Amino acid sequence: MNEAHFIPSQYTQTLEKGQLSWEAPSNIALVKYWGKYGEQLPKNASISFTLQNCNTKTSLIFEEKKSEEFDFEVYLDGKREASFEPKIQKFFERVFVYLPFLKDYKFKIETSNSFPHSSGIASSASGMSALALCLVDLERALSGAEGSAVDLKKASFIARLGSGSACRSIEGDLIVWGDHIQIPGSSNLIGVKYPFEVHENFKNYQDTILLVDKGEKQVSSTVGHDLMHEHPFALERFKQANENLSKLIPILKSGALSEFIKIVENEALSLHAMMLTSMPYFILMKPNTLEIINRIWTFRARTNSNICFTLDAGANVHVLYPLLEKETVSIFIKQELIQFCKNGECIEDQVGFGAVKN
Ligand code: PMV
Repeated sequence: MNEAHFIPSQYTQTLEKGQLSWEAPSNIALVKYWGKYGEQLPKNASISFTLQNCNTKTSLIFEEKKSEEFDFEVYLDGKREASFEPKIQKFFERVFVYLPFLKDYKFKIETSNSFPHSSGIASSASGMSALALCLVDLERALSGAEGSAVDLKKASFIARLGSGSACRSIEGDLIVWGDHIQIPGSSNLIGVKYPFEVHENFKNYQDTILLVDKGEKQVSSTVGHDLMHEHPFALERFKQANENLSKLIPILKSGALSEFIKIVENEALSLHAMMLTSMPYFILMKPNTLEIINRIWTFRARTNSNICFTLDAGANVHVLYPLLEKETVSIFIKQELIQFCKNGECIEDQVGFGAVKN
């Protein structure tokens, strides 16, 4: 499979106007993607849990109107959000060759997130995945393939061009993105379902997201990825990530939670180590991020819990634990961790199974 696979042949149908809606989840990486090349292609393979409660609902309202330019408006929670439009414009330019109907319509893109807009939770993965699904679904109608299932591979491919990690937000529950020698079907172009056996321990895994800092990030993911080009440790990092994914394969099969924790926390801290050692260097963690990490380690040592943490490109902490420990961990979070969150806020989530059509 290469990029040309996603260029469509002529459309056979015409559609004057209509509307399509999809709801797509966010995801949290266990092995992280940080560093890219070409058109949003990852320098190493990554794997994520798809989430269930953090999601974006997008409606695509379309009306035929052939023009030389893209014609669209974006609405967030019912209000025009012009600040989102340059990003969508760039996305449309990038995917036009794969979705050549884009200039044949005027679009109204209505979107809303299940999590608070200012929570610091990245909405780009769920947002780009929901929009990609709407567009690929419309293409299906134009191709006269109305009865068939939507092409999830193409949706993942298109979502990736909007925001890399969004390609892991189409399906669930464990998704791999990036060529990996031990994972058949893995590809730099799309996210694919993890193909091997997964132990009961990892079903219904819980993720409580502690909202430490809700502000705009000082350094965007785009800039962070770019800094990996000149990074002195980049090659070792890409190798480490691929090796960590190899190590996860037997762990996911056997259910060895203590080994799982080592890989997941090592990945989170290695991601942030790349930020600390970039030039220019930067720190996205906050003092409270470290407080939470230390409290998690102390609690784990004291109670033998299988709680662990991971981080994305920000200060918020994802607290991961098996469903069996929900009660004890919830008490611990309330008693010890919630005090380090902005306004005492957190989001309770768990592993989910992918996007749904509304
Ligand atoms: O998808 P992007 O370009 O926003 O990059 C996301 C990178 C991390 O969230 C930090 C890691 C990952 O694999 O999701």
